[in-house]
Amino acid sequence: MYNMNSIGVFDSGYGGLTVFKSIIKKLPAYNYIYLGDNARAPYGDHSFDIVYQYTLECVEWLFAQGCPLVILACNTASAKALRSIQQKVLPYKYPHHRVLGVIRPTAEVIGHYTQSNSIGVMGTRGTVTSQSYPIEIKKFFPAVKVVQQSCPMLVPLIENNEHLTSGADHFVKKYLDDLYSQAPDLDCILLACTHYPLIIPKLLQFLPAHTQVLSQGEIVANSLVKYLQNHPEMAEKIGKESQQQFFTSGDPEVFNTRASLFFGKKILSKQVHL
Ligand code: DGL
Repeated sequence: MYNMNSIGVFDSGYGGLTVFKSIIKKLPAYNYIYLGDNARAPYGDHSFDIVYQYTLECVEWLFAQGCPLVILACNTASAKALRSIQQKVLPYKYPHHRVLGVIRPTAEVIGHYTQSNSIGVMGTRGTVTSQSYPIEIKKFFPAVKVVQQSCPMLVPLIENNEHLTSGADHFVKKYLDDLYSQAPDLDCILLACTHYPLIIPKLLQFLPAHTQVLSQGEIVANSLVKYLQNHPEMAEKIGKESQQQFFTSGDPEVFNTRASLFFGKKILSKQVHL
């Protein structure tokens, strides 16, 4: 059957593009719609209720564009809104739609990346205070110790393209010191914010050589591959014309310029009024 349905990929702003890039690499044939809620980002310090309300609005907008499946490529939204959307909204309003996040696929595999059974999680305040990672990781790897550090300055530094300057050193060092003071034996750092892959070169300047720095793009892409294999009824609904469309609630010209930093190639976005 020919149809034009797409997979929706959502983030508060640009970070989800780091995940989207990996998804396209693994699954290039599908049609996709990316939505960044740049006008209301960052989400990291917003309350639970606000993140839920904004995320739901964006998910419903993607549903209305013909996305039967939406990926929350944002840890903050996955931590604060996903469960409520899955449990309180989908069964009643959209029984045939699905929304997936980035936390569970990461928790399912992360134990394989540590030898010392000690992991440091860096994320936004929202993600860290939700305790989602310690709770989820415990389900799959009960022996793994998880320490967390919220890094509220990193998203603004990255979004303003200041993350690789010497000005970023103070915050990166401070966050890593705080993380290591909680668990000196940690050998794996999870970048639990989809913006953070851009700051890896700066992190590597301050990290012990043996530390594994884990970002989520490939993990989430692999998990989506499996999901579509296990749910052929969903895979069949989605068009396979390799279309990629980009929307932002912010200024599309600003989005186009900054987004290419995250996506690695030129993007032409359209504005959406949510
Ligand atoms: N990229 C988002 C995440 O993965 C957070 C950015 C924000 O604070 O809006 O958590």
